[in-house]
Amino acid sequence: MKRIAIIPGDGIGLEVTREVVELLGQLSAEGLPLAWKIFGYSADSYLREGRALPEGGMEELARFDAIFLGALGDPRVPDMAHGREIILGARRSLDLYVNLRPVQLLHDRLTPLKSRRCEDVDFTIVRENTEGAYVGAGGRFREGTLDEVAVQEALATRRGVERVLRYAFRLAGASGEKLVMADKHNALEFVGGLWYRTFRELEGEYPQVEARHLFVDALCHDLVRDPSRFGVIVTSNLFGDLISDLGAALAGGLGLAPSANLNPETKRGLFEPVHGSAQDIAGKGIANPMAAFLSAGMMLEFLGFGEAGRRLRAAVTTCLEEGSVTPDLGGSSTTAEVGRVIRNAVALGAAVVEER
Ligand code: NAD
Ligand code: IPM
Ligand code: MN
Repeated sequence: MKRIAIIPGDGIGLEVTREVVELLGQLSAEGLPLAWKIFGYSADSYLREGRALPEGGMEELARFDAIFLGALGDPRVPDMAHGREIILGARRSLDLYVNLRPVQLLHDRLTPLKSRRCEDVDFTIVRENTEGAYVGAGGRFREGTLDEVAVQEALATRRGVERVLRYAFRLAGASGEKLVMADKHNALEFVGGLWYRTFRELEGEYPQVEARHLFVDALCHDLVRDPSRFGVIVTSNLFGDLISDLGAALAGGLGLAPSANLNPETKRGLFEPVHGSAQDIAGKGIANPMAAFLSAGMMLEFLGFGEAGRRLRAAVTTCLEEGSVTPDLGGSSTTAEVGRVIRNAVALGAAVVEER
């Protein structure tokens, strides 16, 4: 039995996770050995209880085989304190140093790039997930006055940089993809320099991988101009965050972008759509649940249910081909309708697998 901790969170996190939980119910009724527990950690619970997680909360989450998170973020918590404690807290305390964000165009009409097709937009972002600008190093002085001073430092360690670079080299090697490492060592000499030197040192150990370096500003340019040149992109935490939303846009938007936060050694994983709580559409029942389903697909594969994960991905593609899509993709379906279509297609996939 594989046990999943589920945190629906806030805003559309609640709406898209509901669809995923329905799917888990269906798969478990089909015989997949899955069990899950839903945790109500959210802005509501934070405001009610004055803390994001109860005593021992993170340790409890760590005991599950996987964690699924919808999204966090609420205007009543403007500094996102609860979101940082849960999301960044989990990435850091479970040492989920790989943030894997595949960017794959699943239907030609979804890309805003003219004359690009599915085969042109298919790459994976490997985002360093525990260091960089996200370590919370810094502070403020004379807060609220005209003399306020704020410092936010980025931190990189040789160990942290090396392990994520090695992961990306191995991923590129195993999939026969080209690797690009993106940094900004021309301006940010200390952290960028560490990334660049480590990358150049490791290159020789992976002679089968075609690897090159790009400055991250040029990478953004080239990604839009010709995404087909990219296979695996490895970069630091903040750059990876920015590139993931850019990549999402190339493949149809945030409603379609999944992610996995992984520690390949301890085999821990947290799965979540790349998008946030989307306050502008929250509560309307029109959020696209596909990013959440695709993230659940990555989770199923991680848990060893490869066939179910593949069926789920195929079901999302079927749903896109049928045109049952939410307004972000130009359709008029609701979250629940898309969820139903996808679950039906998953069930049909099961029938096909059994016939084979
Ligand atoms: P967002 O990703 O929530 O939304 C950006 C835009 O994309 C919005 O116009 C939104 O409507 C649209 N969008 C996103 N997901 C969609 C979906 N599934 N279907 C249809 N449209 C979708 O980013 P934001 O607006 O900058 O942030 C809102 C809140 O979410 C903030 O509090 C932010 O801190 C938080 N956030 C949380 C996470 C997370 O939980 N992992 C990620 C990003 C942002
Ligand atoms: C993401 C989100 C998070 C990040 C926020 C919510 C802290 O934008 O997962 O991409 O910046 O990593
Ligand atoms: Mn982000």
